[in-house]
Amino acid sequence: MPKARPALVIATTNPGKVSEIEAILGDCGVDLRPLPDEPLVRFPEEGDDYARNAEAKALAAARQLGVPALADDSGLEVDALGGRPGPFSARYGGPGLEDAARVEALLAELSEVPAARRGARFVCVVALADPDGTCVLATGVCEGAILKAPRGESGFGYDPIFQLEGRSECLAEIGAAEKNRLSHRALALGQLLPELRRRLGLA
Ligand code: IMP
Repeated sequence: MPKARPALVIATTNPGKVSEIEAILGDCGVDLRPLPDEPLVRFPEEGDDYARNAEAKALAAARQLGVPALADDSGLEVDALGGRPGPFSARYGGPGLEDAARVEALLAELSEVPAARRGARFVCVVALADPDGTCVLATGVCEGAILKAPRGESGFGYDPIFQLEGRSECLAEIGAAEKNRLSHRALALGQLLPELRRRLGLA
């Protein structure tokens, strides 16, 4: 009988993150599971630190569900805003906004900022937690700049205004396959992978 694949819960409710994590880890031999009905897992309030947030989310899911869990905390750091919105990117512009409205709010705040000062980066910290309370982290960074107007159709969040460093396209124009090779999330998960394999008995 083939050996059962070890289970790993993806501890996020963001559908954009879920599909990217599934695509990036798809071939690594893990049984990736979505979060069960949300009320089953209670996440702590998020703060201003990616690593602490990622760890808290992964540990909450792993402890409450009794299986290893993977969480992602990420954000967009804009140089002209002193690194804002950073860990608060999901809440930038106010509560309850759609992605497109957050993008518009950021473009409005940067309306007077010239092209040469629109540098930015995406940062992602991923955390892999065991139900016993141990946790391992990895970080990925993707450098770029904020466009003057949205472009492209793919991805989620701020992808339509994030131009990749050294390229003419933004993240919403390169398609999922390429984003999942070079994004902050892909880099963080690539770094975590050896430890993930070891901990889940896949090495
Ligand atoms: P959190 O990690 O749940 O706090 O949310 C991170 C937020 O940063 C997302 O809701 C997006 O607004 C933004 N973000 C993170 N990663 C990406 C990405 O790959 N593309 C576009 N926006 C992203």
